[in-house]
Amino acid sequence: MTFSLDSIARQEGRVAIVTGANTGLGYETTKAFAQKGVTTVMACRTQARALDAMAKIQEEVPDAKLEFLQLDLADLANVRRFTEAFRASHSSLDLLVLNAGIMTPPYSKTVDGFESQMGANFFGHFLLTSRLIDLMPDSASSRVVALSSNAHRMGQKRIHFEDLHWEKRYAGMDAYAQTKLACLMFGNALARRLDAAGSSIVALSAHPGMSGTELSRNGPRLLQLFQAFLLATLGPFLAHPPPKAALPQIRAALDGDAKGGEYYGPTGFREFKGPPGLVGQLPYALDEAEQDRLWEVAREATGAVFPWESDAHATT
Ligand SMILES: NC(=O)c1ccc[n+]([C@@H]2O[C@H](COP(=O)([O-])OP(=O)(O)OC[C@H]3O[C@@H](n4cnc5c(N)ncnc54)[C@H](OP(=O)(O)O)[C@@H]3O)[C@@H](O)[C@H]2O)c1
Repeated sequence: MTFSLDSIARQEGRVAIVTGANTGLGYETTKAFAQKGVTTVMACRTQARALDAMAKIQEEVPDAKLEFLQLDLADLANVRRFTEAFRASHSSLDLLVLNAGIMTPPYSKTVDGFESQMGANFFGHFLLTSRLIDLMPDSASSRVVALSSNAHRMGQKRIHFEDLHWEKRYAGMDAYAQTKLACLMFGNALARRLDAAGSSIVALSAHPGMSGTELSRNGPRLLQLFQAFLLATLGPFLAHPPPKAALPQIRAALDGDAKGGEYYGPTGFREFKGPPGLVGQLPYALDEAEQDRLWEVAREATGAVFPWESDAHATT
């Protein structure tokens, strides 16, 4: 059966966090949650952009319950501050959508010394999840949604453990592809760990196919022009607008039938566009030994401790 937001019941009283909620797919996800009555915390790095987006959603959904809390995923201290602020004002969290991302910026490192895409897209979300997941009710309607991409099949097609931060040779798209593979492996690994811990919380992944958002804004000028040309010429065949492209992540968050470790994406030609449904992933992303290796690297890099790994995490 084709998924539609109309088939989802009202969700009054539930609380969500959407990272990168001020534009693109995060904006559409936030709007969909608002339409269903979910109280949504817009976790954005820039207050002015978040408040503009909030006002826009409130024009369309006058009873939207939206809050802004500043979050910069490229700074682990800021992620810790965010989780402390969230915990001070909320005792429970139902939906955590790890949406924010950057693509192909010029080479730089975060304040913590990570390649910038790896820092913001993956490590920041890893730490964020570890510090909030204990607030989630032990229920199959509690969801952690990791954002991947068709790009997870590009580049090296594996985690570049020997040079994780591209210090020897930086190729922006390969580095982006690695982060989207890492996010997918995180969704898979988290689902396994929750299952092993006897938790009903569902961790899963989604990707939007292709959509003309602001994602390419940090990329090389030539790549931006190429993407604008592609969207202008082949866009109607190969891309869909953000409200449709956000449906896989919305489905992963709200569809009562979704299960841990699943991966939702557009089901049309080469997963560029189309109705949201279950899609396949690179066999490497399903390799449990590689998932575990990445998990350990992320734990060490971020200092994250998940609840089943220690009871001390909430106070660190
Ligand atoms: N669009 C596509 O075709 C496509 C395809 C595959 C996967 N995706 C994935 O979909 C997700 C959403 O992307 P999008 O297309 O909606 O891109 P977008 O329009 O560029 O939105 C990205 C969002 O992430 C936020 N963000 C970036 N760095 C951040 C940081 N350090 N801390 C907190 N927030 C940060 C941005 O905030 P600012 O506005 O303040 O910069 C913005 O709100 C990403 O994970 C992307 O990899 C997109």
